[in-house]
Amino acid sequence: MVEDFPFQNFKFKQLITDPEIYLQLARHADEYSSQYNQDPLALAHSLYKEALSLETNWRNYIQRLVKMVIIDKKATLLSDSNKPIYTIENIEDRRVRGRGRFIFKVFDDPISAEIEFAIGRYLQSTITQLNETNFSVPGSSGIFPLEDGKSVHVQVCSTGINFAEKVRRSKKYLEQKIEEMDEESKKRTQDNIQNLNSIVRYTAFIHVMGNKLVKEIQGIQETPYRDRTIQKEIIKEFPNIIQISKRQNLEEKVKKRLNTLLLDTEKDSSIAVKKISDHLEPILYLLENSCNWVINADAHPENWFVNDFGGNPETVQRIDCEVRNMIPQQVDLVNLLNFLGKSILSSLPVKIAILYKYAYFYNNYSLMENEDQKMVHKIAKIVRLSPTQTNVDNIMDKMSEIEDGFRQYEIFGNKGLITDLNKFFIELEIATIYRAITLSGAWTERKKPKYKEKRQEILKTAEEAGRFLTDWIKDLPLEKDYFNPLTEGLKELREGLE
Ligand SMILES: Nc1ncnc2c1ncn2[C@@H]1O[C@H](COP(=O)(O)OP(=O)(O)O)[C@@H](O)[C@H]1O
Ligand SMILES: [Mg+2]
Repeated sequence: MVEDFPFQNFKFKQLITDPEIYLQLARHADEYSSQYNQDPLALAHSLYKEALSLETNWRNYIQRLVKMVIIDKKATLLSDSNKPIYTIENIEDRRVRGRGRFIFKVFDDPISAEIEFAIGRYLQSTITQLNETNFSVPGSSGIFPLEDGKSVHVQVCSTGINFAEKVRRSKKYLEQKIEEMDEESKKRTQDNIQNLNSIVRYTAFIHVMGNKLVKEIQGIQETPYRDRTIQKEIIKEFPNIIQISKRQNLEEKVKKRLNTLLLDTEKDSSIAVKKISDHLEPILYLLENSCNWVINADAHPENWFVNDFGGNPETVQRIDCEVRNMIPQQVDLVNLLNFLGKSILSSLPVKIAILYKYAYFYNNYSLMENEDQKMVHKIAKIVRLSPTQTNVDNIMDKMSEIEDGFRQYEIFGNKGLITDLNKFFIELEIATIYRAITLSGAWTERKKPKYKEKRQEILKTAEEAGRFLTDWIKDLPLEKDYFNPLTEGLKELREGLE
């Protein structure tokens, strides 16, 4: 078919992956170019763009790409950690509607695909409203059902690299002591910390926007939000989204993962697992009743794309908007922070500054629509006394001032704001233990050596958290060995896995 195209030597040919569209355009281009004496390549290109700009043509076009990927298998497998994700290498031309490569994420469950698409769209519209210009979600071309009941979500491929990969690549720089770092290492460290700052901020953003959507789903009438119509529209257009307001069953999940650890045939972990199981109650109780619950943004570092060195370290793209349910907010933060290993968060001030930034943005995004803007600004001023983004040296000196600032948020009453930083940090340690158990269970299940090896590392963070809680408890009317058996169980489990 393509052979009778008169301009087949032109590079333009490579742009078009669908021979039919290609041929049609070619005929037009040929006809018009002789008629108007124009450059046929330019003309064909503009016709092509014109054709695609019609929504139905665009959808047909993507539909054909989906067929190429799924049925004709003309694609590269990008990732198959949970579900296969493909990409097509040959349509890299950015002139086509400013779009580059596509990725094709194949879901077994069409509802999850729909929710991912809906959340992506919801976030993108709230980002626009709030003028968060450094944050974006790659554009989606839609959901395409397959004949076997699966669904494909087609999305633009994000530029940059995922944050986990970036940290991994700079590990050799980060492992040095700050005092001994050369210029290059310092630059990379600062760049990573800036990225993390932005990611933490946008995690807070997603949590707050998710809360607003959940409130709308549950029919709770709060102060009218400026963007309420967006929430209404999303719920109307994607009714399955109501699922995101379900709370994760913490006990069920942790027990299930502990069971998986028992099934690890190489080692018998039954004694340690029983010990952990018997002493989980306080952890579960505190997570359930003390923390704020937010949508599970899955803040894991692989889900954020950032610039490689050289670009603006504040620019962040969020991929993977699949949300299943709600979790305590610190559990999601642990998802982000504990994957980075010790390297980037080796210093306590950095860790505290990062957490404090989260709390600050969580409160401020939550109050964005509040009528009492004056008060919000006043508090913002107080808590903003913190050091600038990467200069964290004096944060410890200012901590009590910052804590005072946070207490002022109490005047807004029971709005689920973070008013007690100390309590917030303690709950983070509790979440660390919960997440370490559920993750090491998940990593046993996946039988991937790469992950299996990381179980000890993550369990170690849980032991440290257990010891922190034991220290902290000294000032409270609780038995001083309250968390000891649990911590011992975690240690025994870790040692047993070695
Ligand atoms: N839009 C995208 N742009 C670039 N890479 C992507 C994109 N979506 C997915 N990927 C790649 O595939 C991996 C898994 O995708 P993700 O959407 O996070 O699926 P999962 O639900 O399996 O975590 C990502 O870590 C990333 O490397
Ligand atoms: Mg992911």
